[in-house]
Amino acid sequence: MRKTVLKHVTTSVMIIFVAASILFSALRVMGISEVQISTKKGAMLFSKKGCSQCHYTDRQTSKIGPGFKDLFKRDNLPASQRPVTEENIRQQLISPYNAMPSFKESITDDQINYLIEYLNTL
Ligand code: HEC
Repeated sequence: MRKTVLKHVTTSVMIIFVAASILFSALRVMGISEVQISTKKGAMLFSKKGCSQCHYTDRQTSKIGPGFKDLFKRDNLPASQRPVTEENIRQQLISPYNAMPSFKESITDDQINYLIEYLNTL
């Protein structure tokens, strides 16, 4: 009798353990793909919003504005020399440092986040 109870308990613990492992790996896979989706959205926005007309993403030389290769590996933003932070990039899009057009009226907070996520992968 005691042995049967013990067996049930052991089986339940094992089932819970396996279920938890499956759940955690599913969450991990979802986490990774969420970042990938944001990056993809950012890449699409980069061309849809026209950033690609003025900025290269595969080199640091200027097109009309500076190139963004390795942007987040640098200490300073290329034009303003402000530190490379999400906040300073956000600011550039809303109220640009110099000649770049402002995106204040044509971009959402989410879109800025996707763009930053994308710039972080260059
Ligand atoms: C018409 C050309 C043009 C377009 C379109 C454009 N930029 Fe720029 N960008 C510039 C120029 C020129 C600069 C140099 C700084 C300035 O003039 O404000 C610049 C600078 C930047 C910088 C560096 C700012 C700094 O502080 O050094 C970032 C980041 C940036 N642009 C992001 C973007 C993103 C993201 C988009 C698309 C949503 C975009 N740009 C669209 C011309 C452009």
